[in-house]
Amino acid sequence: MNIHTYTPTAVDQIIVPHLAFQNAKQRIETHLLAAQHYKEPTCIAVVGESRTGKSRLLECIAKQCPKQRTDHGLVIPVLCIRIPSKPTVKGLVETLLREIGDPLWAKRGSENEKTERLYTLLKQTRTHTVVLDEFQHFYDRMSHKVQHYLSDWLKIFVDRSGLTLIVAGLPDCMAVINQNDQLRGRFLAPIRMPRFDWQKEEDRYEFGACLECFQKALQRFDLPELASESMAFRCYCATGGLIGYVAKILHQACINAQMDNSAHDGKLVITMADLGRAYAEAVWCDSITPLMNPFATDFDATPVQALLDMAQHIGTASPEVTTARTRKLSGKYLPTAAEVLAA
Ligand SMILES: Nc1ncnc2c1ncn2[C@@H]1O[C@H](COP(=O)(O)OP(=O)(O)OP(=O)(O)O)[C@@H](O)[C@H]1O
Ligand SMILES: [Mg+2]
Repeated sequence: MNIHTYTPTAVDQIIVPHLAFQNAKQRIETHLLAAQHYKEPTCIAVVGESRTGKSRLLECIAKQCPKQRTDHGLVIPVLCIRIPSKPTVKGLVETLLREIGDPLWAKRGSENEKTERLYTLLKQTRTHTVVLDEFQHFYDRMSHKVQHYLSDWLKIFVDRSGLTLIVAGLPDCMAVINQNDQLRGRFLAPIRMPRFDWQKEEDRYEFGACLECFQKALQRFDLPELASESMAFRCYCATGGLIGYVAKILHQACINAQMDNSAHDGKLVITMADLGRAYAEAVWCDSITPLMNPFATDFDATPVQALLDMAQHIGTASPEVTTARTRKLSGKYLPTAAEVLAA
C-alpha cells in the first residue's frame, strides 16, 4: 500500500458510548435545555486525566448545535475554544473573537474594548453556550497559583453575558473554581471523566465493552478478540484504562495493516504481534510504562498487583528530573521517583 491508496482508519470517527461518557453527555444536555428558561448562570466543569475523553465529549455536544448561516447572519449556538497556555484576559478574548470569525480579532484595542466587542458579537451570533477546553491553563503549574484575574474576569463574563459556561480540564483546574468563592457558587458539581480501573468490576466490564465497540467499528480489520479476558487485560496494561491510549494503539495498528496490506478473507489482518508493534510505536515507553510489551506472547496476563499499579501510572507525566544542584540545596539527598523505579 502506498500513501495514494491509503484510506483513513476511522478510529477517530468512532464514538464509544461508555457509561461515564453517556452520563456526562446526558447531564450536559439536560442543563443546556434547562438553561434556556433559567436566569441564573449555569456553569459546568468536565474534569479528568489526560486522554479520558473530555474534548471528545465536548465535540459531540458542539456537533449537535452546529454553526449556521441564516438570512440574519451567522448563528453560533455553542462557541468552543481551547484556552491558550499562559493566557491573559486579552489573549483569551482574542481567541474567542477569532473563533467567532471576527476579522478584527488581532487589531489593536484595549482589553475592555475587545471584551465589549465580544459581548456584542456573542449577541449577534445568538450564542447560548461557551465551551473552554484546557481550563487548567488558568492555573500556573510552576508556581501552583491560580490566575485570579482570569477567574474574576470569567465570573463577570458569565454574569453579564448570561451564557452557559462549560469548561474542561485536567484535575488541577478544580483549583481555579475552588479558590474563587463566587465562581465556585456558580458551578455545579463537576462531571468527572475517569480512567477505567481493572480492580473495579463495573470498570472492567465497561473497558471490555469499549474494546468490543472499537472492534465492531473496525470490521474491515481482522483483529484478535479484544474483549476476551486475557486480551482485555493486555489492553489494560498497555493503556492504563485510558480510552485515548486504546484509540492510539488501534489507530497505529490499522495504519500499519494498511501499509503492510496483509489481507485475509477480504480483511486486513492485525495479529497479536502487530498490536505489540503498534504499542511499541504509539505508546511512549519510559520508566513508568510496563517494561514488557503486554502483547508479547510471553507476557503473563495474570492481573497481579505490580502490573495493576504500573498501569495506573500510564498517561501520567514522567517524574521531573531533579538536578544535582536542586538536590544539594534541599540539604539531604532525595532519590527521584525514576531512580526509585529503576532500582
Ligand atoms: N467515547 C469515546 N469514543 C471513542 N474514542 C474516544 C472516546 N473518548 C476519547 N476517545 C479517543 O481518545 C482520544 C483522546 O480523547 P480526548 O482528546 O477527548 O481526551 P482528553 O481527555 O481531552 O485529553 P487531554 O486532557 O490530553 O486533552 C481521542 O482522540 C479519541 O480518539
Ligand atoms: Mg482535551
